[in-house]
Amino acid sequence: MPTSEKKIRKSLHTKIIGRKIHLFDHLPSTNDWAMARAVKGGDNGEVVIANRQSAGRGRLGRRWYSPEGGGLYFSVILKPQISPPYLSRLTLVAGAALSDSLSKLCGKQIILKWPNDLYADHRKLGGILCEAHIRGDKLHSVVIGIGINISAKLPDEIQSFAITLEELTNQKWAPEIVAASVLNSLEDWYTQFNTGKWPQIVRWCDQQNILKGKRAQINFGGETMEGLVEGLDENGYLIVTLDSGEKRIFSEGDTTIIQ
Ligand code: BTN
Repeated sequence: MPTSEKKIRKSLHTKIIGRKIHLFDHLPSTNDWAMARAVKGGDNGEVVIANRQSAGRGRLGRRWYSPEGGGLYFSVILKPQISPPYLSRLTLVAGAALSDSLSKLCGKQIILKWPNDLYADHRKLGGILCEAHIRGDKLHSVVIGIGINISAKLPDEIQSFAITLEELTNQKWAPEIVAASVLNSLEDWYTQFNTGKWPQIVRWCDQQNILKGKRAQINFGGETMEGLVEGLDENGYLIVTLDSGEKRIFSEGDTTIIQ
C-alpha cells in the first residue's frame, strides 16, 4: 500500500521538518532527488519519501536494499548554519533522533554503531547517509538520508547482519507512524543542536554507541586496524587504543565489532 501523507500528518508535530512532504512511488534514490531540489532552492525541512528505490545508496558506495513494502526510505533537506568541517555532527544528530524515537516507539533498545548505523539485537536496523552541497567554502545544503528496515522479509545475503522492526518486535508497523515519530524526533534533536546543545548530544551518542568498550576493526584511509574503542571525543570522533598501544582518533571510518 502506498505511503499516505495524511496518515503521516496525523502524528506529525513539527514546525519545520516535513512542512513540505514529497511522496513518490519510485525514485532511484531519495538522496539524489533531495540534493537536486536543495541545489535548485528547496527549503530547509523539506522531506522526500519513496515507496521503493532502484538505486538506494549507503555509505562508501554500498547499495541500500529498498524494495516496496520492505522499509522506510526518505531524505530531509537541511540548511544548517555551520561550516563544512562540522558536517559529520549532523550524522550523529540524526542517529540520536533515530535511536531515541524508535526505542520509545517500539519499546526495544535501539542503539548506534558509530558513525551512521542503527543497531538492534546486534544487527543493523537502519542507516544514515548524510551528504552536502558546498558552495565556495560554505555549506549550502545538507541532505540526511535515512533507511529503516521495517518488514520481516530480508534477502538471504543480508539476513545474518540485518534486522527489521517487525522481526525485532513481532508486530507490523505502518511506515507513516515510523516516519512521523522519526521526523518529530529529528526536529527536536536538530533544534537542540542549533541551540548550543552539541556537548549533550555527543555525550548521549557516546553512551548509545554499541562500539564503546568493545574491540573493533577500523578501516580508515585504506588501512585496517584493530583496538579497543574508548568512546567518542568532544567532536564526535572515535577514540581507539590500537593493539600497538597507540591512541588514535578517527573522524570517519568503517567499523566492525570483533567478537
Ligand atoms: C548506510 O547504512 O550506509 C546508509 C544507508 C542510507 C539509506 C538511505 S534510504 C533513503 C536515502 N536514499 C538513499 O539512496 N540512501 C538513503
